[in-house]
Amino acid sequence: MKVDKVLVTGAGGQLGTVLVKALKKLKGAENVLATDLYVKPEDKGLLFPLDATNEVAVAELVVENNITQIYHLAAILSAKGEEQPLKTWDINLKSLFAILEVARKYKLDKVFFPSSIAVFGASASKQNTPQDAYLDPTTVYGISKAAGEQWANYYFTKYGVDVRSLRYPGIIGHQSLPGGGTTDYAVDIYHKAVNKEPFICYLKKDTALPMIFMADAVRATLELMEAPKEQIKTRTSYNLNALSFTPAQIVESIKKWYPDFIATYKEDFREAIAQSWPSSILDIQAQEDWKWEPHYLLDDISNEMIIELKKKYNLHSQL
Ligand code: SER
Repeated sequence: MKVDKVLVTGAGGQLGTVLVKALKKLKGAENVLATDLYVKPEDKGLLFPLDATNEVAVAELVVENNITQIYHLAAILSAKGEEQPLKTWDINLKSLFAILEVARKYKLDKVFFPSSIAVFGASASKQNTPQDAYLDPTTVYGISKAAGEQWANYYFTKYGVDVRSLRYPGIIGHQSLPGGGTTDYAVDIYHKAVNKEPFICYLKKDTALPMIFMADAVRATLELMEAPKEQIKTRTSYNLNALSFTPAQIVESIKKWYPDFIATYKEDFREAIAQSWPSSILDIQAQEDWKWEPHYLLDDISNEMIIELKKKYNLHSQL
């Protein structure tokens, strides 16, 4: 039987850190090559340096390691992207082109390209946003993902490259920290809660956003990528729904474990980004095509986050 050999870009990021572990379990550790632009000294040997915008460098690694699949996670996210719009466009698209070109030239089996709820803007209905809503993103990150979705579809239609994609909601996990996103508050808040620190939220208390627990996000990714090709009918990117909540609702959930937990609200530019995104999305196509079903609701997430972060911070005894 043919062995899958997987290359992951952005493997040191929030999702990459956890997805790589899951891929190693599924495919065998020796069959997963985790790469990132910067490799911290403690990650040497686990993470290999790769500038994903450099097509020649990507091609070399693919050939040397007989790679058959790429998970292209490297990107600059929504909030950070607004600091340097042109650089963000350049990095997000240039790296996607490098990956798609290598996949085409070396006839790779599959490519995974993450998209985001950031592709939606004012024209999409705010609640229960459907798969085929008009895309008018407001951030350069969203623009790069909306364009990337079209390129994914183009490479599939024109060259037969099997590119698959998900529009992730905000991802909440204890294993890693997000960097530069608008949904990051929903991870930071748990770190503050377990350390008994007050939390200042940069969104308004009633701004709802779609979110997903890391375990669900990783499972969705692997289920999509392992599904038979003929089941994958959406070749731009699938809406992926798990749950939606506001800052006030996550605070209420955390209070079940920490009744004294306090959040204050001091909105910044990320509130406008969040306002431009759906507060909830529909994912009927993902349910139908590859049987997507989320497992974690808000209190399940709070429970897991608090248990795991207490271990991480060595807070065994106290609640
Ligand atoms: N979590 C991402 C962000 O906030 C959205 O895809 O930028």
